[in-house]
Order: sequence, then C-alpha cells, then structure tokens
Amino acid sequence: MGSSVPTYKSAHDAYFAQWQALLQRDGDGVPSLVLDEARVRSNAEAVRSLWPARHALRLAVKSLPCVPLLRSLAAQLQTERFMVFHPAHVRPVLDAFSSSDLLFGKPVPTRAVERTLDQLKAHEINSVRWLADTPARAEELSALARARGVELRVAVEVDIGLHRGGASSSDEIQGFREAFRVGSGLRFAGLMGYDGHLGRIPWPLQRIERSHARSMQRYQEHVRAVDALGWSWEGAVRNAGGSLSFMEYREGDPTDDLTIGSALVKPAHFDDKRLASLSCALWIATPVLKRVERFDPPDTEWLAALVPLVKGLRGAGVYLFGGRFHGQAESPKGLVANLALGDSANQALYQLERSSTLAVDDWVFFRPHESEATMDTLSHVLVSDGTSPLERWPTLRV
Ligand SMILES: Cc1ncc(COP(=O)(O)O)c(C=O)c1O
Repeated sequence: MGSSVPTYKSAHDAYFAQWQALLQRDGDGVPSLVLDEARVRSNAEAVRSLWPARHALRLAVKSLPCVPLLRSLAAQLQTERFMVFHPAHVRPVLDAFSSSDLLFGKPVPTRAVERTLDQLKAHEINSVRWLADTPARAEELSALARARGVELRVAVEVDIGLHRGGASSSDEIQGFREAFRVGSGLRFAGLMGYDGHLGRIPWPLQRIERSHARSMQRYQEHVRAVDALGWSWEGAVRNAGGSLSFMEYREGDPTDDLTIGSALVKPAHFDDKRLASLSCALWIATPVLKRVERFDPPDTEWLAALVPLVKGLRGAGVYLFGGRFHGQAESPKGLVANLALGDSANQALYQLERSSTLAVDDWVFFRPHESEATMDTLSHVLVSDGTSPLERWPTLRV
C-alpha cells in the first residue's frame, strides 16, 4: 500500500544521529541542552596536557554552571579551586566541595557581600576570597568585616592589559595600604589579573607572545609593589588566565593560579587554533514541529519569484520548537534561518539543504556561542557519553 507520508533516512551524521536517537528515546520533546560527557572528559585531558607547570587550576563557575559538571571536572583535574562571579553561586559550590577555595572574578557591591555572609557559617568565611578593584571598595569591605567581627580575605584586582579595572600601577597598589592595615578586618588574599584580551584581538593584529610578555611584566610590577608593602604571600594566590590564554603561561611567570572554564565545553566563541585538540561538548537541541516542502511567502507575490533562486528561501524548510537560540546551526548541515521571516523565538523557520531528509519529530542542533548565559537558561542539561541513557544534571540559575 502506498503512503503519502515520505520516509526519511537520518538527516544527521553518525554523531548527531546518535544524539537524536537518545533525545527521541529519553528526552522531553522540548528545547534542551545536551552535554557530551565523553567530549568533556577528553577536553579536560587535552587541557591537562597543555597546562603550564607550577600553576594551580581554577574552574570558572559562570562558564560551567552545573554542580555535577563541576564535580566531574574537579575530580578529573584534581582541583577544588573555583572562580565565582555571582554571589548566588557561593552557597552551592561550598555545599558541593568541602575544602573548596573560591575566588571572586569580579568585585561585587558590598551589599551583595553582606547578603552572602548571611548565608555562610563562621568556618566557611575563610573559603572565600573577595575582590577589591579600588581602595574605596577595600575600605567598604573593611568596614563590613569590622562591623561583623570577622576577617575577610580580599584579593586585589590588577590590570595587566585588559583595562577593565583594578590597580594599574605600583602607586595604585600602594593606595590599598590603609585598607589592609593591621586591625582592618581584611587579610590580603592575592592578586587577580585577567588577560581576556589575549586571543580576542582580530587575527591580523594579534601578537600573542608579545601581549603575554607585556602582561607578565605588568603582573611582576604588581607583585613587586606588594613585596614593597611587606604584605605576606602566605595563603595568597597570583591568579590570571582564561580559556584563550592559560596555555601561554610558563614556569617562570609571576603567576601561580590560572582560571579555565569555557574551553572545557568549547562553545563557538572559543574556536582558536591553540585549542584545536578540544571539541564542542555542549549543544542546543530542539525538535522539528513541521516540515514544509517549499516556502510560500505570505502576501508577497514578487518575493515568490525569488524563492527558488535564493538560499535561505528555496527548498524545503522546517519550523522548529523555539528559536532565537544563542548559537549557530550545526546539524543537519546547510540549515539556514529563513531570510524573509527572520528568526522567531516561538517557531523559527529554517531552510534545509536540497537533499535533506529532516522530518517532523527529528531534532536540530545548534552550537552555542558561549556556555555562560546558555547553560543556565534551562533548569538542567541532558548528559550522556553518547551511548548511555540521558541523565539530568541541574544547572545553577541565579
Ligand atoms: C576574571 C576572569 N578570569 C577568567 C575568566 C575565564 O573564563 P573562561 O575560561 O570561561 O573564558 C574570565 C571570563 O570572563 C574572567 O572574567
């Protein structure tokens, strides 16, 4: 008996066909984030092999906002050092890791520090290194520490070339002398200098080695300024680095603690030849709701004439569950957002490659631009090593 419903073979390659099969079997039929655990593990191995000697590894929580993911990476990379960027992440990280060391990656309003302290037991206060970018902020933290009768560990943000704030000269470090005086309630907890510009400057202008050498020279000047003040380095860290710079550090650099997050799941903004041995491990997946064999422009006959000629209008298309995803279409190959209708957060129309067999209830995969502000848009990620049943890992939402 003939059937009017066409039968399609998989529109994906073997990798995405496997994820689609998992989602069809274990998923919820709604837009989802899927995490490839096998790739995360192999990325972590690659990171380990690139990691500079004499530098501790610190995981950036905002880029990996999921406690089970942090647990697995912490075990594999043997670290309980974390960089936090939101007070709401402090409690869950402390709950998950009994001997964790948390360093704030940005200064937060003293009001937020106060609120966070309300949630900490006395012995936990010591696990957190707050960040001060200016003497005025350090003074506020000092006033808070004295009012609470506690000692706060505070690291100083230093500018090593990004120019996003923090002390930018030895004189500016000297400016913190008063805030860290004996009896201030503050204990010097180190320096935090981020080189987020490294690897972000457009390619023809990029001079990675020179830029790193300059950052290290600046870092060294800050270290000397701290030495001149006579502050103790005991228990203090010299933090720097990120996904696009950690591999540039060397044993002789003035740093001893580097942060990494995004590269471990390698979203699209982290495509860099220095990370070529790592692969994307996080996907936005969404089901196909409808398939149309050709695009019929509403009310615009003149456009109808162009439809067969223009990629993004011609051929079959699919309406997706949702749209406006923060990512680029990855599978099936050749998927392009419909040019006439634009993207829709409700039912986005994507045009397919001529031969695509993508069908209703199949899935489409997008590669996120970033893991930060993507992973935490949903309450959980669906995790598998590619063959094991999908597990649900809760995300850290603020
Ligand atoms: C202070 C600081 N350190 C490190 C990082 C690196 O994070 P990732 O490795 O996810 O890029 C960032 C990212 O914004 C940052 O702000």
